[in-house]
Amino acid sequence: MNYKKKVDNERKFNHMIFELLERHLFNQANKYFKGRLIDIGCGNKPYFRPLQSFVDVHIGVDHELSIHDKSKFDLVGTAYNIPSENDYFDSALCTAVLEHLEEPELALRECYRILKPGGVAIYSVPFIWHIHEEPRDFFRYTNYGLEYLFKKAGFEIIEIKPLSGFFVTFLQLHLYVLSGRINRGLVKKIGLFDAYVYFVNRFGLWFNKFDKSFGWTWMYVVTAKAIK
Ligand SMILES: C[S@@+](CC[C@H](N)C(=O)[O-])C[C@H]1O[C@@H](n2cnc3c(N)ncnc32)[C@H](O)[C@@H]1O
Repeated sequence: MNYKKKVDNERKFNHMIFELLERHLFNQANKYFKGRLIDIGCGNKPYFRPLQSFVDVHIGVDHELSIHDKSKFDLVGTAYNIPSENDYFDSALCTAVLEHLEEPELALRECYRILKPGGVAIYSVPFIWHIHEEPRDFFRYTNYGLEYLFKKAGFEIIEIKPLSGFFVTFLQLHLYVLSGRINRGLVKKIGLFDAYVYFVNRFGLWFNKFDKSFGWTWMYVVTAKAIK
């Protein structure tokens, strides 16, 4: 599999988490995605390029008040009311959206409705992450909450995977804070912050292999099948 096809949102200072997310997401996509893919809350559709080889079509839907580039949306609609007939899609992707939905259960039921029997959904959902895209940022989820919601909407859980332990989570959060505060002026000019980021990334990715403190994950990836 080609892990070189990076998602468009990746930057130097968030390389560590995108590396972990991409490895797992593309592995799951390789196993479970096919045919028609709906990308719910697609934003700038950053997963279009990396997922191209797994599916026939990749259709992004997002709502009309989104702050993202609307030219990337194929369909305009909310996660509660996707303009699609029942049982139409083979695969569904929903990355970093569930926390922005005030009615997550309704949104999962809507995804279930448009998936074919046996269709597979992959969701990435943060657990420890700062507030973003406010005021539309409502919840954080544990694996127990996710299992409850997905099963209630009719899905069978294939896997709920925490992507990091304590160190990656907090190394990444501190890079986000520092990148906005100290990566400017001379520090930026001489590449001091970039060098620091490089070593933090290397250490974090190495250490995460041994770190089993999943109760501190920044993100879960849920893979679930629509049983009908
Ligand atoms: C953090 S962004 C993630 C975007 C994209 N999925 C990604 O991974 O880069 C959250 C997305 O959820 C979308 N969103 C928020 N509320 C929504 C709703 N009710 N229906 C559909 N999309 C929604 C936003 O417009 C935004 O594109």
